[in-house]
Order: sequence, then structure tokens, then C-alpha cells
Amino acid sequence: MKHTLIENPWKSSILVIFAVLIIRLLTNRYKRGICDIPGPLLAKYTRLWKLHSVWKGDHHHTAIDLHKKHGSLVRIGPNHISVGDPNAIPVIYGLNKGFTKTAFFPLQSISWNKRPQMNLFSTRDEHFHRLQKRSVANSYSMTSILELESAVDSCSETLISQLRKFADRKTPVDLGAWLQYYAFDVVGELTFAKKLGFLEGGQDVDGMMEAIRGMLAYASICGQVPEMHPLLLGNPLFPILMPSMESWDKVLQFTLKSMSSRSSIKRDGELQADEKVGGKDMMSKWMALHRSNPEKMSTKDVMVHLSANVFAGSDTTAIALRAVFYLLMRNPHVLAKLQSEIDTAADKGNLGNPISYQESTTYLPYLGAVLKEAMRLHPSTGLIIEREVPKEGAVICGKQIPGGTIVGINAWVVHRDAELYPKPDSFIPERWLDNSPEKLKEMEQGFFNFGSGARTCLGKNVSLMEMYKIVPQLLREFEIQLHDPSKDWKTRNVWFVQQEGMICELVKKI
Ligand code: HEM
Repeated sequence: MKHTLIENPWKSSILVIFAVLIIRLLTNRYKRGICDIPGPLLAKYTRLWKLHSVWKGDHHHTAIDLHKKHGSLVRIGPNHISVGDPNAIPVIYGLNKGFTKTAFFPLQSISWNKRPQMNLFSTRDEHFHRLQKRSVANSYSMTSILELESAVDSCSETLISQLRKFADRKTPVDLGAWLQYYAFDVVGELTFAKKLGFLEGGQDVDGMMEAIRGMLAYASICGQVPEMHPLLLGNPLFPILMPSMESWDKVLQFTLKSMSSRSSIKRDGELQADEKVGGKDMMSKWMALHRSNPEKMSTKDVMVHLSANVFAGSDTTAIALRAVFYLLMRNPHVLAKLQSEIDTAADKGNLGNPISYQESTTYLPYLGAVLKEAMRLHPSTGLIIEREVPKEGAVICGKQIPGGTIVGINAWVVHRDAELYPKPDSFIPERWLDNSPEKLKEMEQGFFNFGSGARTCLGKNVSLMEMYKIVPQLLREFEIQLHDPSKDWKTRNVWFVQQEGMICELVKKI
């Protein structure tokens, strides 16, 4: 036998490869510290299970079912644990707990001068993150965002005047698409002090929506095997070989185009701002910071922060807005109750036109509960928000998990926790109003739509302001119903859980 193998190098190579593969699979399966955590059998051997599950586009439902079957900890990959217990949120995402972002994130970065540039969302370097966040966090505070409320109102006005045309013509409208145009233009106003043209044209601008869809699909799949990234979009040859796949570059080009209407970038990379600078939008603020302290805020930093808004701010908010309207249409008693709250507040003279954020949050408590409940039932992200366990290991749900393991919580799983949210599959906004203060605190702590801890969403106030304003405004303007109630919307989990097919009929009220 020995003799035959030496004589036949092909055979021996195949045998060696086979043996290495078997050893690798078995090492995966019996990985110390996590081999007894339940989960799909294939997932314990190889990441192919997870890759396939994500590729199918309904991983959030699979995750919910797995946690129902196996409990708080589910092994979804050889080194990946999905955690389903809301009490584990502060353990994993709490400040100074030592859990760091994983290789899933950096591949969601733009390239500048042919080098990947980490933004606040994508960086794994906590020190870099702290420094960068210090310079920009104030621009995302509610006080700063509210200074731009009139710009949001102008987007609402354009949206409503466009939707009126459909109501006048009595033609069905893809409300889901228009909500996304709205979210894009609001981000444009707050970021660049200009609408990006989505609402005006009633369509995607420069293929941005398509590009973001492509980026998300890539991130969701390649993010399961991030070591492939340097061979794919992370490969410097890739843009030359497949220019059509340069989605990240589109975000960069789009950001540069939006910036160029307000500034020029000189040959040496210096930003030269026009006279409009001094405004309240983020670009004005960051360019002012750049001028006063270019080391603290370089041209590249300005570009990276601005483009992160374009990527992080539009799809996520559009998903939340679609969830609100769809769930309202599917639950007419909730819609009627909300409508009555809005009408009563308007009759009492408590709502201006346009409705301000202040009025909405003060006089429309049921609206607040509706928004929260919609984001609970349909969170925008649909995969675990990965973190690497610090090298000393950590106790999660009573189990010692070794350092280097990738753990994470999927908002879809914790938001369906029946103990925290009884009747978890039902749309019950009242739960956010009628419970005791202690229970409400628990529910808030388990609410994971915007993440948690040091890396929680910076743009949350932008989305909340948008939602608190546009939802009652549209409900005051129009009666909204599904064009064909027998048809459900379609959802697809590509890291964000996008929806399609929200074709509606609008009837003008005023
Ligand atoms: C409903 C809307 C939104 C949802 C559901 C959402 C969700 C999230 C989540 C879950 C994270 C944390 C990711 C992690 O921990 O790894 C995050 C981070 C972030 N989001 Fe949002 N987001 C929304 C809107 C926005 C908007 C409108 C902007 C900007 C205008 C924005 C900018 C960011 C940024 C910059 C980060 C990184 C924060 C950091 O690491 O310091 N997001 N978002």
C-alpha cells in the first residue's frame, strides 16, 4: 500500500487533502467550550450551513425557530453562537465589556484612493472609533437634528404633493418605494443641506438604491466568510475585472457629487467650502471642524462620515417606515385608534401643519407606541450583530464561552421573546403604554432595533424624528389601504430585512 501511494502522487495528494478536511471538520465539531451548544448538525462542522441559511434570504425566521427549539444559545457555525436571551444584551454590548466587532463589518466600507476606509459603523478598532465618534457625535444629538426640522418638513411637503397626484388619478402607488425616496432625501437634507432628488424625480437617483441593495447582498453573503473578501470586492484587481460590481464606489461617487455642490476638493486633498458653510447640516459642521483643526477632521474623515450616512441612514429608516404602514393596514383597529388620536389632537388645536416633532411626541402617545411596536415586530437588521468574545472568555446565559468565539444577538429573536413580550407575534402597541414602569424598563432594555452600548446607532434620532413627523402627517392627509389585501408583502433578509410589494391606494382627506 505504502509503495503504491509513493508511486501515485495524485492518489496520495487526494488522500492527504481528504484527511486534512476530515480533521478540520472534526476539530470544528468538537471545538472546546462550545461543542455541547445545540444547533443544526451541519452548522457545527462548517460555515456552509450559515452561508446557505443567509443566502436563502429568510435567516431571521430560521433563527427564531432555532431558538424556540434549542433555547438561549444556538450554535449556528463552528465558531458562531446566536444568543437569544435579552438579558445577555448588556453582557455582550455593554460599555467596556471587551467584546469587539468582527470581520463581518470592515467589508462594509468604501475605498478612497484604492484603500478601504473604515467608518464608525465598520471599524473594529475601538480606539479609532472613540476618537472619530468624539468629533461627530454632537451632530447626531436630538438638539442638533431638531435644528434641521424645517428641512425635513420640506421633504414631507414634496412627498405629500407627489402622493396627491396618485390620489387624484386614483392610481395605486408603491408606497414602500416612496417612503424610501423620502428617507433618502431627508438624509440628504440633514447631511448635505440638499435634497438628493429622489422625491422630485419619483425614482432612484444614480442607481443608489440599487447599489445599496447590491452592497447589502454582498455584505450578507461574503460576511459569512469574510476571508473571501480580499479575493472578491476587496481585491484591487476586482474593479478592473468587474466594473459593474463596484457598488461601494457608487456610494463614494454619490457622496462626492453631493459634496461638490457645496465645496471643491483641491488637488492636494484639501476641502474648499463655498459660502453656504456655517449651516446646521452635518457637512457644514464637519467642514468647519476641518478648517479649524484639519488633523482632528481630515478631508478623508469628512468624506467617510458623510458617505456612512448615505449607506446607514436610508434603507434602515425606509424599512421601519414600511413596517409601520403595513402593520397599520393589516390591523385596522390599531389604525382607527391612531387615527382618532390624531383627529382629537388636531381638533384641540394641538397639531400644527406640518406637525412638529415636539407636538407629535407630546400629544400623540399612541403613535409612539405604534412606532415602537412596528420596529419590534419588524426590526431593520435580520442577522446577529456579531461580536468577538474577549480573549479571557465570558459567561453568557450561564455558560462559559471561550475567547475568540463569535457571538451575537438577532433583533428578530429577542423581539419575539414571549416572556418579555407576551403574544410576541401580534401587533399590540398598547403593551408600550399599559405596563408597569418596571416591565416597561425591561421591555426597553430588550428592544434591540438600534443595537446597544458603545456601538449603538448614532442616527437613531434622525429616524425617530422622521417617523414621528411623517406618519401622522400622511395619516392626516390620506386614507391609506392596500391595493390587494389578499397579497402579503415580500420580505428578503440581506442583512437588512427589506420589504417589497406595498402597493397602496390613497384617498385624499383634505
Ligand atoms: C430605523 C433606522 C435605523 C436602524 C434600525 C439602525 C440600526 C443600526 C444598528 C443596529 C446599528 C449598530 C450596529 C452594531 O452595533 O454593530 C447602527 C449603527 C449606526 N447607525 Fe444606524 N440605524 C438606523 C438609522 C440610522 C440613520 C438615519 C443614520 C444616519 C443618518 C445611522 C447611522 C449609523 C451609524 C453612523 C452607526 C455606527 C455607530 C457607531 O458604531 O458608533 N443609522 N444602526
